[in-house]
Amino acid sequence: MFAGPFGVGLFKKAAESGLVTLNIRNIRDYTHDKHHTVDDAPYGGGAGMVMKPQPIFEAVEALKAELAAQNINEAIPVILLSPRGRKFCQQMAVELSNNAHLILICGEYEGVDERVSEHLVTDEISIGDYVLTGGELAAMVVVNAVSRLVPGFLGSAESLISESHTGGLLEYPQYTRPPVFREWAVPDVLLSGNHEQVNKWRRQQAVLHTLQRRPDLLVNADVDIKEK
Ligand code: ADE
Repeated sequence: MFAGPFGVGLFKKAAESGLVTLNIRNIRDYTHDKHHTVDDAPYGGGAGMVMKPQPIFEAVEALKAELAAQNINEAIPVILLSPRGRKFCQQMAVELSNNAHLILICGEYEGVDERVSEHLVTDEISIGDYVLTGGELAAMVVVNAVSRLVPGFLGSAESLISESHTGGLLEYPQYTRPPVFREWAVPDVLLSGNHEQVNKWRRQQAVLHTLQRRPDLLVNADVDIKEK
């Protein structure tokens, strides 16, 4: 599943240059039985299967041992992707990007044995209030959002400063050539060459778009009295 999204574009480039490394493990490789069993029926009954703790613990311990062998001994966040986790946001991506290493665990089936959350995991993250069939897509979302914050990943750091969710506002509208497309003209101010007016307009638009589409964001947004 990971080969597609991470085998193209900026991520591929970053991986080739060694800026970002993705080290994917198959939980089944850490089982000890003939059938490589990773799940079992829930105690107490009920539908679905629960992922066993042992292969997950051993996979994470093996990763940590490999890192320790490379003299990497810092505390590494161990994150379980789960619809029960804290809801992922840009601020969390920024915080996670300060770590040189992250370990992400993708849950499957109906759930993961609670002892994984209690004794192995340092943080549980959900990418939104909906349920996926497994944590893989969620892990890809987190890896993508965090990786692009690694210095050197994006062409210009400037694109990070003005993008949506930085400063708590949505991004202002962008236009490119032609100046008129199907009778719809680009706002005059953007063609004026007056940078002060352009910046003022962009700021107003960012506040306006946030108010119209995501008023919930304005509570914590970086806006002054006049903008409020
Ligand atoms: N696994 C299943 N659903 C999920 C979600 N919304 N976020 C993270 N992991 C998940």
